[in-house]
Amino acid sequence: MAKINFGGTWEEVVTSEEFSLKKARDVLKNETVAIIGYGVQGPGQALNMKDNGIRVIVGQREGGDSWNKALKDGFVPGDTLFSPEDAAGKATVIQYLLSDAGQTTMWQKIKACLNEGDALYFSHGFSIVYKEQTGVIPPPNVDVILVAPKGSGRTVRTNFLDGSGINSSYAVFQDYTGRAMERTLALGVAIGSGYLFHTTFAKEVYSDLTGERGVLMGCLAGVMEAQYDLLRKHGHSPSEAFNETVEELTQSLIRLVAENGMDWMYANCSTTAQRGALDWKDRFRDAVAPVFTELYNSVAAGKETEIVLRVNSAPDYREKLQKELDVIKNSEMWQAGAAVRSLRPERRKK
Ligand SMILES: NC(=O)c1ccc[n+]([C@@H]2O[C@H](COP(=O)([O-])OP(=O)(O)OC[C@H]3O[C@@H](n4cnc5c(N)ncnc54)[C@H](OP(=O)(O)O)[C@@H]3O)[C@@H](O)[C@H]2O)c1
Repeated sequence: MAKINFGGTWEEVVTSEEFSLKKARDVLKNETVAIIGYGVQGPGQALNMKDNGIRVIVGQREGGDSWNKALKDGFVPGDTLFSPEDAAGKATVIQYLLSDAGQTTMWQKIKACLNEGDALYFSHGFSIVYKEQTGVIPPPNVDVILVAPKGSGRTVRTNFLDGSGINSSYAVFQDYTGRAMERTLALGVAIGSGYLFHTTFAKEVYSDLTGERGVLMGCLAGVMEAQYDLLRKHGHSPSEAFNETVEELTQSLIRLVAENGMDWMYANCSTTAQRGALDWKDRFRDAVAPVFTELYNSVAAGKETEIVLRVNSAPDYREKLQKELDVIKNSEMWQAGAAVRSLRPERRKK
């Protein structure tokens, strides 16, 4: 493991230098890996592992878009593509990549397919940490492990194809075979992780649920709406409000943050922008801090889990979700966004 100084705290990380693909192949040479669920994470992890020379089969219920996607990606019914139960029964590593609500629904059937010494793998601590609510309680004679890519399944694949990789956290919850850690790291490398950092199932799920409800998605959309609405209320045109709120961020400033950090982005703005941002940053931090406290408490208390399980497993979930997404899509702000994006020079050229 490499020791890296993260802003004053030393942490151990695993890269392909410490754990090579060759070693991963060696650790997994006698394993059959079943990807249960071919949704968003399933395809990225399955295809990367297959390309890395690991024996991969897919378990996906028939009939829907995910099944068709697996067929299109070259998995063959009866050979490398099966029902979730059949794939789980044939495998020694069961990568449980159904939606988190789907994991609860399918659990009794998958549990019945686990054999002594199998590895049950998750990409989220959700089902295990909230086991009282999900009912996902693995038998004691299997390894229970986690590799959680820190990004969308789509990026897991696109980063792999462009030769980079996505960072993932890893954890061992239960080590029955004594091989749980080497299996975890081998699988982490095989799915195409750029580097792997250690976590626990609980830390992974608490930080992940907070992050996506917070800065990554919920907070981001909320503060964008607040600023856009304010500018519109004061008579700014939709194009001006959108450009000042979203387009300048996504097309310019956040790219500088990604390249070299927030300080560097500040250092490369006008002095007027710098002064104002430095003066207002702490006020925004203090304004949202109580909301973040409420959010973390809700995550830790299992309230977010209760909502996810109840709402996402309702039979009309997809229709209701589509209605909510349509409200965002059809809002003036995001319609203005569509117009702004269509004017980007590279899109006009097409
Ligand atoms: N999305 C991401 O990029 C991401 C990132 C990091 C970690 N993760 C974690 O990875 C895991 C998989 O997430 P995901 O986003 O890839 O899931 P997803 O896209 O929502 O996957 C849905 C999959 O689950 C199946 N499914 C759902 N309910 C089912 C049920 N009741 N019975 C049988 N199959 C069912 C779907 O089949 P149908 O298509 O037939 O409905 C599909 O194969 C989760 O633990 C998630 O937290 C996801």
